[in-house]
Amino acid sequence: MKVKKAVIPAAGYGTRMLPITKAQPKEMVPVVHKPVIQYVVEEAYYSGIRDILIITGKGKRAIEDHFDRSDLPKKDKYTEDLDKILDEVNIFFVRQREQKGLGDAVKYAEAFVDDEPFALLLGDTITFPSCAKELIQVYNKYKTSVVAVEEVPIEKVSLYGIVKCREVEESVYLIDDLVEKPSIDEAPSNLAILGRYILTPEIFECIKETKPRKGGEIQLTDGMRILNTRERMYAYLFKGKRYDIGNKLDWLKANIELALDDVEVGEGIRELIRSIEV
Ligand code: UTP
Repeated sequence: MKVKKAVIPAAGYGTRMLPITKAQPKEMVPVVHKPVIQYVVEEAYYSGIRDILIITGKGKRAIEDHFDRSDLPKKDKYTEDLDKILDEVNIFFVRQREQKGLGDAVKYAEAFVDDEPFALLLGDTITFPSCAKELIQVYNKYKTSVVAVEEVPIEKVSLYGIVKCREVEESVYLIDDLVEKPSIDEAPSNLAILGRYILTPEIFECIKETKPRKGGEIQLTDGMRILNTRERMYAYLFKGKRYDIGNKLDWLKANIELALDDVEVGEGIRELIRSIEV
């Protein structure tokens, strides 16, 4: 079965981005010309996906407004590009009732996903080149769940979901186990889950069996851990760039690095950087 649907969770609090996120969703924070979530929807679109579910919640209405076709009398290139995409995709919204973690948010996608494999793309993370497109290629070969990972410095493993795995071909690993936010001693590797997944619909049953952690949050990694006992799962080592926009330093880096390549502002930013003495 082909991957035809994408789910984009965007209901988290965004406390690491306060006070920017006090009155606007973190997914609407700008990166050069566009809000973060527009990059994510574009990633789904350019991976061939036409049905997209965005999981929102309290304080996230700006996201729905952003994906209305614009009726402005005069539009810029980026708004026109988005309108063209909106002519071709179906975007659905569902609200997570309480912010009880990523695993809980994903549960809201069950009716939309039905019995198909789906791409799960975190709404606060952007990847270049498109990680979703590469993951779909891996899925098409192995026909089971596959999660994108990247190498992180060992002192940072406690910030991520980490996989224990063995390489089966270049950049593809069979997963033995997954651990959410391990200590350095407990970490089975430094391969961290980065926010892009292809999952089979069996994940929903597994999430329902997942117990909440301290603080009442249901972790997706815990659900995937159960899934891994029922079907083979693979990790794919993504070698492109990934920015977690929910983190201030990554957000600033994304703005600078993407601006450097931009036709409109690239030259100005290069000049600025050359002129700064650090
Ligand atoms: P984060 O781990 O970044 O959590 O979520 P957060 O609550 O959004 O941000 P902080 O930690 O308070 O700064 C990872 C992804 O999961 C979604 C977020 O929107 C983000 O895309 N998420 C998280 C939900 O949709 N619902 C939740 O209850 C938690």
